[in-house]
Amino acid sequence: MTRIELPDPETDGTTSVERAIATRASRRTFAQTPVGTADVGQVLWAMQGVTHERDGIEMRAVPSAGATYPLVAFLEVAPDGSERLEAGLYRYEPTDHTLEVTLETAVHDDLTSAALGQEVVRDAPATIVMAAEYDRTRTQYPDHGDRYVHMEAGHAAENVHLVCESRDLNTCPVGAFSDADVADVLDLPGRLDPLYLLPFGHRRAEE
Ligand SMILES: Cc1cc2nc3c(=O)[nH]c(=O)nc-3n(C[C@H](O)[C@H](O)[C@H](O)COP(=O)(O)O)c2cc1C
Repeated sequence: MTRIELPDPETDGTTSVERAIATRASRRTFAQTPVGTADVGQVLWAMQGVTHERDGIEMRAVPSAGATYPLVAFLEVAPDGSERLEAGLYRYEPTDHTLEVTLETAVHDDLTSAALGQEVVRDAPATIVMAAEYDRTRTQYPDHGDRYVHMEAGHAAENVHLVCESRDLNTCPVGAFSDADVADVLDLPGRLDPLYLLPFGHRRAEE
């Protein structure tokens, strides 16, 4: 299994949270510049990175009902979308902040089709695919598990949004897609359902 180490995440920055909230917007255009691994690592860390330990459990950058952590982050890279990463699909491993290659062929056109042909997906150099293993949370919370997973997805997506804003990266949350087609294109394991697409890339100079 090929593993790619990501640069250590930054835990301090020059943009305040207030500033990022004030300027955040869904931005659907991107510069034709590939994304670097520092940006890739930072947005994935914001979505699911390990921040500290509590009672022997690796706690993450977003809250999780009962610390069940049902979310899984994949990174889809378009052809020429990254300085170091080949086109394909990668799974983010929070424990060691690495990427594991899961598909070594470009799936960009197929992912765009699965997202109903949306230009924001087509034009993005890279897309975070947020998937959920519902059973992790349902087991502990039979009545409210599904709701909790969706709440957590919102926390995770907003973290990505704010980190993008703080680094002059554009992103837009994408919920309109065919679940079955995304799962099929990315060859997701049956226990994982796709929840959200977060295409991102550098902001154009004129924006
Ligand atoms: C759950 C959810 C799903 C969304 N799906 C899409 C989408 O499929 N395509 C898209 O272009 N924008 C999508 N958006 C972005 C919204 O259109 C956008 O957030 C809204 O117009 C408000 O604009 P703002 O984010 O710039 O404040 C989605 C937003 C949310 C919260």
